[in-house]
Amino acid sequence: MEHIVEFDKISKNFGKHKVVDEISFTIEKGELFGLLGPNGAGKSTSISMLSGLMKPSSGRILVNGKDIAKYPKEGKRCIGLVPQDIALYPTLSAQDNLYFWGRMYGLSGKRLKEEVDRVLKIANLEERRKDIVKGFSGGMKRRINIAAALLHRPQLLIMDEPTVGIDPQSRNSILETVKELNEEGMSVIYTSHYMEEVEFLCNRIGIIDLGKLLMVEEKEKLKQEIMGSECIELKINHEEDSIINGLSKLEFITKVHKNENGCINVYLHDPSQHLQSIVHYISEQGVNITQFSIQEPNLENVFLKLTGKALRD
Ligand SMILES: Nc1ncnc2c1ncn2[C@@H]1O[C@H](COP(=O)(O)OP(=O)(O)OP(=O)(O)O)[C@@H](O)[C@H]1O
Ligand SMILES: [Mg+2]
Repeated sequence: MEHIVEFDKISKNFGKHKVVDEISFTIEKGELFGLLGPNGAGKSTSISMLSGLMKPSSGRILVNGKDIAKYPKEGKRCIGLVPQDIALYPTLSAQDNLYFWGRMYGLSGKRLKEEVDRVLKIANLEERRKDIVKGFSGGMKRRINIAAALLHRPQLLIMDEPTVGIDPQSRNSILETVKELNEEGMSVIYTSHYMEEVEFLCNRIGIIDLGKLLMVEEKEKLKQEIMGSECIELKINHEEDSIINGLSKLEFITKVHKNENGCINVYLHDPSQHLQSIVHYISEQGVNITQFSIQEPNLENVFLKLTGKALRD
């Protein structure tokens, strides 16, 4: 497999503050790669360096085998960037914004018009093409931003939290568009702090926090093997701390804590095998279980286990 992106020990310092700390990973051609992390993790900083907008303090980033810092033009040609902050001219129409961006990418004439028509269709905004952007919803603005990034038919689409603060309809439309573009062969790097989006979209996921890449794995492996835990959620009619303390001493339990709903989360391998022991232990303490469910492993659990923090702390 050929790499479209290679991060090689990338660090970024702002003054004494190291916000990206020796990150290394690769993205294969055609992959839909998710970079998942909470606020301030270093996602946008990493994306800015990948897009050639910011220079790393150390390390190098290869795009199609070429160092983006040394060959910014070649790199930018194959990258379409959807930045976290929407960049549009509010007083221009949707199509005029796209014409502007198209010219920035060096398009003109018939080709420019064709590409604008094409991306308006992808963004589902053909009917609103002549309307002034100022009156658009956040989701519609975001869709124009995505359309702009697609004008020059990039090989690699970089999206930095494209669904933050937008309506559910636009969100679904964006997620479907990303999936389709990827199915047509485009490589995508998608950053988010929404676990369910990354889980829905991506084949491979990197988890980043405080500038460090904690893990890069295929989604299923991340969920099943690396995490190695499923989660039982239960509620009891008793003060939780002593039960949590007792459960944490059982050797088949990897982690146990109280969650924000006042339930106890018990992480373990193969819950069905140990269910009886858990129920038995709790009832032995004279405590009743009032609510009980087994949860599929998900990225929220993975993140919690890796960092000790919830994704939306
Ligand atoms: N230009 C800058 N100067 C100084 N510090 C910065 C600068 N840009 C980012 N930072 C700091 O770097 C850290 C990482 O920021 P970054 O924007 O990359 O995070 P993020 O993962 O994109 O977060 P969010 O989910 O909030 O967008 C933060 O602590 C931020 O305050
Ligand atoms: Mg960001």
